[in-house]
Amino acid sequence: MRVGVLTGGGDCPGLNAVIRAVVRKGTQDYGIEFLGFRDGWRGPLEADTMPLDVTAVRGILPRGGTILGSSRTNPFKETGPGRSGVERIKDNMDGLGVDALVVIGGEDTLGVAARLNDEGIPVVGVPKTIDNDLGATDYTFGFDTAVNIAMEAIDRLHTTAESHHRALIVEVMGRHAGWIALHAGLAGGANVILIPERPFDIDKVIGYVEHRFQTRYAPIVVVAEGAHPQHEEAALQSGQLDAFGHVRLGGVGQYLANEIEKRTGKEARCTVLGHIQRGGTPTAFDRVLATRFGLHAVEAVHDEAFGTMVALRGTQIVRVPLAEATRELKLVPPERYAEAEVFFG
Ligand code: F6P
Repeated sequence: MRVGVLTGGGDCPGLNAVIRAVVRKGTQDYGIEFLGFRDGWRGPLEADTMPLDVTAVRGILPRGGTILGSSRTNPFKETGPGRSGVERIKDNMDGLGVDALVVIGGEDTLGVAARLNDEGIPVVGVPKTIDNDLGATDYTFGFDTAVNIAMEAIDRLHTTAESHHRALIVEVMGRHAGWIALHAGLAGGANVILIPERPFDIDKVIGYVEHRFQTRYAPIVVVAEGAHPQHEEAALQSGQLDAFGHVRLGGVGQYLANEIEKRTGKEARCTVLGHIQRGGTPTAFDRVLATRFGLHAVEAVHDEAFGTMVALRGTQIVRVPLAEATRELKLVPPERYAEAEVFFG
């Protein structure tokens, strides 16, 4: 059997751990031959491949990012003259002698995988995103590393906030889910955590910040990039749409800093962590989860359980229908607000 592997969407620490587990187990236990497709769905569309054997994955476990490269290419957007994206992928897989695909990605990449599987391309999916917003799995790898990176930044920002008696606003990623903000804010001892799931009342936020200043302690505000004030329809945006229709989020942190300075007369500074949250080596949690996902994904290939995705349920790795993987986003539920015991919007 010859199996193609691709990584799509935003990169994150842990991707190489999945690739390594898939290739090592598939080669050693099942005699599978692997081929790497470069840069997400662009690879199968353009037959852009690289060797992917045990030698190629040696030493990649602790490395962030993905040796295969990634992209936000959407084959269903390839609507030029001639063959459709699906036909090009099928023809390229036939030409390369590739029997099936292991697809590692988030909602967009796996959404394409589910559609292609329905069109006869055998696929097994592995969930990936720092956002932790895939409803079919309790956790995705990448999330724990992003939270740790954000927590370390928040720890450092406490010192400058206290030294200068400033409000420090930390804008974190997560797209339309507040998981990174919630967990990093909790772990970093933030006074205010603002998430997309609960549009905030700017007057309440200002009032709380003023209260903190009166107690002589500088307020630390963690805000998710997708969070927005009540009465504002959508999060602040700072760019055009990507191939899956996502806008580039960003700007809410500086908006808050400006409002705080304007309305309290106190100094405020904003730090946008951005892609730092997606870089560097994965934590142990993410290395273990990613490795387990890879091992179970190649077992699913061996069992020809195509159209499924591996997922974490409690401490067990299970298989769920790919279609379920992208059915709904997993957002922070209201019952988590009280648990945080910190200020929400
Ligand atoms: O989905 C992961 C993510 O990091 C989001 O949290 C963020 O909004 C988005 O990707 C950024 O996309 P890009 O890497 O294309 O700028």
